[in-house]
Amino acid sequence: KHVALLFGGNSSEHDVSKRSAQNFYDAIIATGKYDVTVFAIAQNGFFLDPESSKRVLALEDEQPIVDTFMASIDQMDPLARINALRNGGDFDIFFPVVHGNLGEDGTLQGLFKLLNKPYVGAPLRGHAVSFDKALTKELLTLNGIRNTKYVVVDQQTAQNWTWDQVVAEFGDVVFVKAANQGSSVGISRATNAEEFSAALLDSFQYDYKVLIEQAVKGPQELEVGVIGNDEPLVSEIGAHTVPNQGDGDGWYDYKNKFVDNSEVQFEIPAKLSAKVTQEVKEMALNAYKVLNLRGEARMDFLLDENNVPYLGEPNTLPGFTNMSLFKRLWDYSNISNAQLVDLLITYGFE
Ligand code: DAL
Ligand code: MG
Repeated sequence: KHVALLFGGNSSEHDVSKRSAQNFYDAIIATGKYDVTVFAIAQNGFFLDPESSKRVLALEDEQPIVDTFMASIDQMDPLARINALRNGGDFDIFFPVVHGNLGEDGTLQGLFKLLNKPYVGAPLRGHAVSFDKALTKELLTLNGIRNTKYVVVDQQTAQNWTWDQVVAEFGDVVFVKAANQGSSVGISRATNAEEFSAALLDSFQYDYKVLIEQAVKGPQELEVGVIGNDEPLVSEIGAHTVPNQGDGDGWYDYKNKFVDNSEVQFEIPAKLSAKVTQEVKEMALNAYKVLNLRGEARMDFLLDENNVPYLGEPNTLPGFTNMSLFKRLWDYSNISNAQLVDLLITYGFE
């Protein structure tokens, strides 16, 4: 079988995607079962040819490669580009490793459907619903899966929320989040009126829907991997703690996730009671079903000071960098990277 591995993309997670894709590429080769062709999606949205893509995956300086590629092709119209991909590739399955906007919101999966090819990971609707923090919380709430208290506002209804009203409803620390964004972009933590106004302004740059959300007190964040289709498997639970929580920037932001995690303490498996462990795994599996997920996902939880777990967010294209808990959780479960990708590809064909 022939796998087309896609990475990069025009989101803020372009570089993270390279590091995830390197590990997935090595794992697919390690199975000894598949041929792989790689396609880098440049920041400008163009799909690079496989030769250029391999150089990008090997972390060669990207811009000159993209410049050379752009100079070498005719500026085909979009339909011609899609038809070229449809006719030009004899792959059996797409393996997308494109985090964030356009990769993780269902857009790319729509292209796979247009091209009439199977693909690894959740279907279009699972991605689309899970990438929208408002739709996600509405579905979780409807299905009795505990999540933090929130309200969805637009530019108009945001005017109704003074800081005093926010404090009365959600407490004196809130998160303000653009509904459609990944990797902690368009998210701010607000602890006073000035920060709250600035946070709204920032979030509305990314989406017309914004969430104002209760900040859970208690320092622990949990992550759980789920893979499979009708009878998904759940991994052990990982935990990470960011010291200085409460000082204004002590949270698991983009820097802590992908740039420098030296401040973050990881724990696999998380030290939780049997009851909480069970509850978190059940919530993860329920959410996976409710959100129409298949293939793979990582569920993030918040554990409050009374050890009550809240489902934080689903990640339908979880990072697979060396720093990523999704990778380390399966390592811990003695599922090798090669076994994992073999399963993911098999689920994609189902
Ligand atoms: N969005 C990144 C890749 C993650 O959640 O792992
Ligand atoms: Mg995420």
